[in-house]
Amino acid sequence: MDVTVRDETPGDRSAVRAINLLAFGGPGEADLVDALRERATPCVSLVAEAAGRVVGHLMLSPVTLDGHPALRAMGLAPMAVLPDHQGIGVGSALVRAGLEACRALGTEVVVVLGHPGYYPRFGFAPASRLGLRCVYDAPDEAFMALELTPGALVDRAGLLRFHPAFDELPESDASLRSNDAAFARLCICIDIGPWYSPSDGIPPGGDHGDSTAHTER
Ligand SMILES: CC(C)(COP(=O)(O)OP(=O)(O)OC[C@H]1O[C@@H](n2cnc3c(N)ncnc32)[C@H](O)[C@@H]1OP(=O)(O)O)[C@@H](O)C(=O)NCCC(=O)NCCS
Repeated sequence: MDVTVRDETPGDRSAVRAINLLAFGGPGEADLVDALRERATPCVSLVAEAAGRVVGHLMLSPVTLDGHPALRAMGLAPMAVLPDHQGIGVGSALVRAGLEACRALGTEVVVVLGHPGYYPRFGFAPASRLGLRCVYDAPDEAFMALELTPGALVDRAGLLRFHPAFDELPESDASLRSNDAAFARLCICIDIGPWYSPSDGIPPGGDHGDSTAHTER
């Protein structure tokens, strides 16, 4: 199936919201996408089309490294593909296009909190090897970084923070409001699984491909 990736337009917004609702099984990521679109600058928002239909979406937003405000870095999240179009390369096409869009913006580093079996194929490696720590208590292998500018992180170690929108939940989710909640949302986003709590340490087995979230979404 031919897949094309392009910038999101205002006319795509309802389709993008529907994709995030369906892919994640709830409104958290769809709300996050809406918030990032309004507040994050720059914001890369891409859609994937197959047979004239929008079937996938990827967003990247700025992240900050404590003590290094000049670093131009973006975080890759959320990404969603319609369930009946998963596993055929739509997500991969979105990631590759997203990295190209970041290069065009002059981004030096892209980070992702994601499945360690998926993102290395695009060049991501554990961020800890490059001196980065994640603001969320993520498993080491799940927090990954890619230097688009080789050497960009030399002498730039520190704590990496995602856009504040990741930490903010609507009032209806007040019971979830906490730093842990933001991480829980990222966990679902990256399919570490909602069963994993930051206080648990590394999820059992270290390989989360068959997690509950995989089958529940
Ligand atoms: C994760 C997701 C975006 C991947 O998109 P996709 O179009 O299915 O991915 P592709 O077809 O390009 O790549 C398929 C590969 O990704 C792997 N993969 C797909 N979903 C995965 C997941 N949630 N966790 C880990 N690996 C996953 C597949 O096993 C496959 O691996 P292989 O090539 O080694 O066989 C899509 O499955 C999705 O929308 N899932 C629900 C939402 C989600 O979990 N988003 C995570 C990012 S925030």
